[in-house]
Amino acid sequence: MMDAIMHAEVGDDVFGEDPTVQKLEKEVASLLGKEAAVYVPSGTMSNQMALRVHSQPGDEVILEGDAHIRHYEGAAAAGLSGLQLYPVYGDRGILNASQVAAAVRGQHDWDPQTSLVCLENTHNRAGGTVYPLETVRAISDVARENGLAMHLDGARLWNASVASGTSEADFAACFDTISVCFSKGLGAPIGSALVGSEEHMAKARRARKAFGGGMRQVGLIAAAALHALRHHRSDLAKDHDHAQTLADGLAGFGSVSLDPAQVETNIVMFDVTDGRTALEVLSELEAVGVRMVPFGPTRIRATTHRDLASEDISQALIQAEPVLNR
Ligand SMILES: Cc1ncc(COP(=O)(O)O)c(C=O)c1O
Repeated sequence: MMDAIMHAEVGDDVFGEDPTVQKLEKEVASLLGKEAAVYVPSGTMSNQMALRVHSQPGDEVILEGDAHIRHYEGAAAAGLSGLQLYPVYGDRGILNASQVAAAVRGQHDWDPQTSLVCLENTHNRAGGTVYPLETVRAISDVARENGLAMHLDGARLWNASVASGTSEADFAACFDTISVCFSKGLGAPIGSALVGSEEHMAKARRARKAFGGGMRQVGLIAAAALHALRHHRSDLAKDHDHAQTLADGLAGFGSVSLDPAQVETNIVMFDVTDGRTALEVLSELEAVGVRMVPFGPTRIRATTHRDLASEDISQALIQAEPVLNR
């Protein structure tokens, strides 16, 4: 990857002249079976561009109640695009078609105007859960019947694809726009892409500029993303195996509530059950060299990634045991 960065050909991408960015956008669009893509600094920006592309101020967006767009994007849907979010809670983050159909508003003057349905695959706060393709297709049918656009927050679409055996393109076919991240499991230092039709991407480019995301000689980091896209997707199965091993080990600890059968990808969620808060436990874990993230008063998220070997997982369990097995 460092070699790809060092040898990257660059140009001014604000003028559409960076050959490495163009190569990346072309390859990711083609992988997802869409016409075009726009390279952006973050998954947050690509989600927010999609909201802007598909809506007018005052519109309403249906999404899962624990969606990243709702919890972790600084209320940008309201702040940047004047949107109201309609949260619907799914089964471990997974919505079904009847729930979406029931959330579509009517046509009275007083009804908010629903414009968009957003799904998240894999679902972060739900613990890396994967949408079955049939469920996505059924939701997409509901959206089409109601004239709604479909956006996928596919920050970890690569993981969903590896875990389910469903291609990224098959998932993508159910959506107008898809946000994918190169910077998470794929291991690039920076960057995401919004993918969709030429027409939607032309609008998205305007939104990217307005949101401050037009970048100049950005081929340097796009080269890393391109390398990750080409060479790192197939390694994700190893991260999933590591997450399973980690979950199996954690589930045996006395202070942990966790069902290892619920681990589907590279995310492991668990609760601390001995009266300590997640933050207290996390600082004890940090002191023994294991870093995880708080996800609620007693909830903790652990994530595996490509820089970990199997021995690192065993070692993490050994170091975490005195903190979590009480
Ligand atoms: C599901 C999901 N969507 C979007 C994002 C945002 O990505 P970024 O951190 O690049 O803004 C994240 C980040 O963790 C995420 O988990």
